Amino acid sequence: MPEKKNVASSQETLLKVEHLCQYFKENKAVDDVSFEVKKGEVFGLVGESGCGKTTTGRSIIKLYNITSGNVYFKGERIAAGTGSYKWEIEKAKKAYTALKKSGVSGEKLKDAKKKRDEVIAEQKKQIRLAQEDQKRRRAVTDIQMIFQDPIASIDPRMTVRQIIAEGLVIRGEKDQKKIDEEVYRVLELVGLVREHAGRYPHEFSGGQRQRIGVARAVVMNPELIIADEPVSALDVSIQAQVINLLDDLRHKMGLTILFIAHDLSVVKYFSDRIGVMYYGKMVELADSDELFKHPLHPYTRSLLSAIPLPDPHYEKQRQRITYVPLKEHDYTVDKPSFREVAPGHFVHCNDAEFARYKEQMKGN
Ligand SMILES: Nc1ncnc2c1ncn2[C@@H]1O[C@H](COP(=O)(O)OP(=O)(O)OP(=O)(O)O)[C@@H](O)[C@H]1O
Ligand SMILES: [Mg+2]
Repeated sequence: MPEKKNVASSQETLLKVEHLCQYFKENKAVDDVSFEVKKGEVFGLVGESGCGKTTTGRSIIKLYNITSGNVYFKGERIAAGTGSYKWEIEKAKKAYTALKKSGVSGEKLKDAKKKRDEVIAEQKKQIRLAQEDQKRRRAVTDIQMIFQDPIASIDPRMTVRQIIAEGLVIRGEKDQKKIDEEVYRVLELVGLVREHAGRYPHEFSGGQRQRIGVARAVVMNPELIIADEPVSALDVSIQAQVINLLDDLRHKMGLTILFIAHDLSVVKYFSDRIGVMYYGKMVELADSDELFKHPLHPYTRSLLSAIPLPDPHYEKQRQRITYVPLKEHDYTVDKPSFREVAPGHFVHCNDAEFARYKEQMKGN
């Protein structure tokens, strides 16, 4: 893994994900997730299989009509869900019906009805605005996504040249000479050579294929790259090469990266900040160093306990902690939410846990 370099990521927010919900029927794949990515930073998103990392990425690039919440890119709303507004309408209707049933009448009931209708009108307005933004469906080519095996799903009869150029062609570029120049430029940028342009994906190794995937993304000159487990399928030695390449491009192109991974060891040195997801929820978010020094949420602790270190003494003592939510939290009355425990350090917790975490941070 590369040495962590201190890249001054700016304070400008490039991407803002706000109360994002993506439900697949009963399955709350992403449930009220909020985070911001600053321009120039690498934001690591980690968590076990099925916790909603890919769904978060796909929601950002508008592959779904999100259930609820907002996604802003450079201050412009690029995705908007209508769920929260619809839920507010339901709530207002229910409250009014309950009041009526309880026997309230006259002026009081009239007032309540007026209030309900105001809520409904306001929420309907928000729904219309969200639908307008959603419909605009501006092709957000400034955001590109790299997948685990990015060219596995591509027609094997396409040459590397065609694979890399596809986005440019879709964007409307017709000048073949210009396209070729771009293809050669990015091939070299990712550590391949122009002679590779005429070959087919199956002629390449896993690491090289991932480089082609990176080339395919950077040829669009994006500002943000969402890299979804780009190294999970690769040997450890090759993993470091691909991460080094992304780190290199980050500096050369001023890229911002949302880096998705299963485990913390991959993102540790590369990320400025890390968000930890568990079953559709963001459970902890902090600066990388801070998260490793002061992990608060028990799930983060369990992830950390799974990382082996090249220290035999530590390894002998290392105990894997398993996270059993029912044993850790009592959320029957005191409900949890995402709260800032220390500056920039957020944890999903209830009042009692919040007080305990604060105390814990004081001791550090
Ligand atoms: N298109 C879909 N339709 C229905 N359910 C889906 C869809 N995509 C994902 N899911 C479900 O949403 C949940 C989150 O899936 P997601 O792929 O986002 O997880 P992940 O964190 O990326 O996992 P992995 O580390 O295995 O890639 C899972 O329960 C999954 O089965
Ligand atoms: Mg995934």
